[in-house]
Amino acid sequence: MRKVVLISTAVAVCVSSVIAVDLKELAKRSDKGFKKPEIEYKIPDESKIPNNAYGELVKYGKELTVNTYKYIGPEAADPKMRYSGNNLSCQNCHLDAGTKAYSAPFVGTFAEFPQYRPREDTIGNLTDRVNGCMQRSMNGYPLPVGSKEMRAFEAYIHWLSQGVPVGGSKMEGRGLAKVDRKMVKQRAADPKAGEKVYQTHCASCHGDSGQGLKNEGLASGYMYPPLWGPDSYNKGAGMFRLLKAADFIKSNMPLGATHEAPILTDAEAYDVAAFMNLDSHYRPEKINRSSDFPDVKVKAADVPKGPYLDTESETTHKFGPYGKIIKN
Ligand code: HEC
Ligand code: HEC
Repeated sequence: MRKVVLISTAVAVCVSSVIAVDLKELAKRSDKGFKKPEIEYKIPDESKIPNNAYGELVKYGKELTVNTYKYIGPEAADPKMRYSGNNLSCQNCHLDAGTKAYSAPFVGTFAEFPQYRPREDTIGNLTDRVNGCMQRSMNGYPLPVGSKEMRAFEAYIHWLSQGVPVGGSKMEGRGLAKVDRKMVKQRAADPKAGEKVYQTHCASCHGDSGQGLKNEGLASGYMYPPLWGPDSYNKGAGMFRLLKAADFIKSNMPLGATHEAPILTDAEAYDVAAFMNLDSHYRPEKINRSSDFPDVKVKAADVPKGPYLDTESETTHKFGPYGKIIKN
């Protein structure tokens, strides 16, 4: 009996050593077990925000999502309020104040937390998740728990999630839409081809050096946000990961693209994402990045920093191909 157990353990180790993410392991730690109902993607009517203390907080949360830099950016009038390290707004990625489908919208998000987070290998709540973007996408510091700003983000996300039951739902439009995973398994992204895509489809707004175009005046944010450089997201951000960036770009960029009417092909989105995130493009470091994904068993495939469960190089994790990394 004992022998059998030993053998099966050895087999399990052998199988999992060739893949980065052990999906069974992920399932064991997640909130599976809720039966998620299918729910239609629905943005609540803004005119119905109630005229009371709750409504005021919801409105402030929306305002913070749209004009983040004005209240908590590095140029904010009150130095004590300078929590984010760059002049981006949440809306620069969570488009249309967090309501555009397939741009990681906040619609339904409240109901998805608490949630297992492989990056921290723990069950995190919505506050932790907002502070994840504060420390990575915004290259800044966590907002104090219970601060007016944190409560406002929570209230706004709560309001955008009305009608969605606790435990979340299967909802088309939530998160990001994936570029063809067969393609990413077969070939590495080509940043040289991506540079051409960049020049044709991106540079007119984001600039030849990815610097974007800043609005005039302090704490006024960007007309076109930067894609790299000192005022961009840092190396711990989701957008620094190739597949996440490709997924975002395909359904959202160039500005005007949607999931239903994309402008780039999957291949172009994959290549331009690799170009955008090249190491030769300066980007701030994330403090303590090495403590991300403390358990390699559940480490995301496109994290460009080892150690990994598999034997593929950091370069392969950064650019693909992901055939030996992502298991079906
Ligand atoms: C540079 C781009 C970027 C910026 C700026 C940004 N985020 Fe994010 N955010 C992301 C990405 C990418 C994800 C992950 C999406 C996914 O995996 O589906 C995410 C996820 C989230 C989630 C979880 C969404 C869900 O439904 O699970 C929340 C909440 C969030 N961000 C809040 C914020 C807030 C608040 C701000 C501003 C203070 C902000 N983000 C700024 C890129 C960004
Ligand atoms: C017509 C102008 C325009 C073009 C062209 C364009 N973008 Fe954008 N992009 C924007 C604007 C504006 C935002 C911020 C959206 C908002 O705040 O509503 C943005 C946001 C982004 C973001 C998230 C925010 C950040 O700064 O990291 C990424 C990534 C991005 N664009 C990549 C691209 C790529 C790649 C291309 C080319 C395939 C491209 N964009 C083409 C205008 C443009």
